[in-house]
Amino acid sequence: MNPFVFHVPTKIAFAEGAGSSTCEIVKELAGNKALIITDKPLLEGGYLTSVLEGFEDMPHVIFSDVPSDSDVDCVNTIAELARTEECDCIVAIGGGSVMDTAKVVNICLTLGGEILEYQGLNNIAEQLLPLVAVPTTAGTGSEVSMVAMVKDHTEGKKLLFGSRYLAPSVAILDPLLTVSLPPKLTAATGLDALTHAIESYVAVISNSVFTDSLCTDSARMVFENLRTATKNGADIEARSQMLVASTMAGVAFTNSGVGVVHALAHSMGAKFGTHHGIANSIFLPHGILFNMDIAAERYARLARMVGVSKSTKDLTATKDLLDAIEQLCIDCGLPRRLRDAGVPELNNSDIEELVVLAVSDPAIMFNPKDCSEKDIQELYERAY
Ligand SMILES: NC(=O)c1ccc[n+]([C@@H]2O[C@H](COP(=O)([O-])OP(=O)(O)OC[C@H]3O[C@@H](n4cnc5c(N)ncnc54)[C@H](O)[C@@H]3O)[C@@H](O)[C@H]2O)c1
Ligand SMILES: [Fe+2]
Repeated sequence: MNPFVFHVPTKIAFAEGAGSSTCEIVKELAGNKALIITDKPLLEGGYLTSVLEGFEDMPHVIFSDVPSDSDVDCVNTIAELARTEECDCIVAIGGGSVMDTAKVVNICLTLGGEILEYQGLNNIAEQLLPLVAVPTTAGTGSEVSMVAMVKDHTEGKKLLFGSRYLAPSVAILDPLLTVSLPPKLTAATGLDALTHAIESYVAVISNSVFTDSLCTDSARMVFENLRTATKNGADIEARSQMLVASTMAGVAFTNSGVGVVHALAHSMGAKFGTHHGIANSIFLPHGILFNMDIAAERYARLARMVGVSKSTKDLTATKDLLDAIEQLCIDCGLPRRLRDAGVPELNNSDIEELVVLAVSDPAIMFNPKDCSEKDIQELYERAY
């Protein structure tokens, strides 16, 4: 067996209604005043009442202006608020945008200085403030991951922060908080989870039985439950399966990395604001086809494990996996080309800019096959 290191720094608690115990968990972490970070649609939609009621007796301050495309300015504003209010713990309630913002706020608040100093991998060397993550989407895995991304509008790119200290202290998984997620976002975030599972399974450092099991089980749970969660959002069992699958895939990719699909998706998010899950869902088949000549054995094994292929032939089983992804996306109403996802026609200078972003994205380091600039350009053209 190959040697491996596997790490899950986050305590994970799942229960229907678990969100209402968030304040208790914060108290267990010795928090005295909580900085609660969320976004406007969640707060104003009244979706967080069960969580916030618990904080009535605890000093706290709420910041609810996190935009979907959260950025360095937003991080600095929140950190300033938290310093003024003397908060000593952070609660992130929302999707990946909120959780990633909270993680980067935590760096700023604990370590001070310029946030840009800490971007990249392993540039944080000390414990941060306790952070409790309560996901309201089922896709990003940010509630357990050791990475966070926020946009730097001046540079027009997404900054990546990666460190084991970024993993939240506790992830509270409450499927009831995902019931209000509209069908399109349910489908898109679900495809983000599936992409984490598939990319981690074939990633260059994906050699651990721990990540393999998490990848195959989470992918199976997405194939079995995403249609129902999308079409009948009130189905708590489907919502539960999706939420747990997303966290499992998050644990897998934070140990194994992702790949070219994520590098492409990050560049589309940075340049055109394309939703991360939508971009992943479009690029995923293209990434698999690109990697197929050297990773077919792994894709085929995954296809058999998740139950979408019975073929003993690797190429046939990989093709079955591609067909299953395509059918899942169609059934869930996801666009299949960038042009159908609101991306304007890509001219040469757009493609040049996107290629630069993708080849410098850390996700690409974990892809099983080397990608040249020409390869990346062709992937954009095929996906358009
Ligand atoms: N750190 C990581 O490990 C990691 C992994 C993957 C993606 N990401 C990041 O996550 C971000 C995307 O996150 P996301 O896909 O969760 O979307 P999001 O956080 O951007 O949320 C999208 C929209 O959904 C709304 N929403 C969220 N939960 C809802 C609910 N329960 N009911 C109704 N509306 C709800 C939000 O208000 C928002 O308008 C990207 O910035 C991406 O880079 C991070
Ligand atoms: Fe992702």
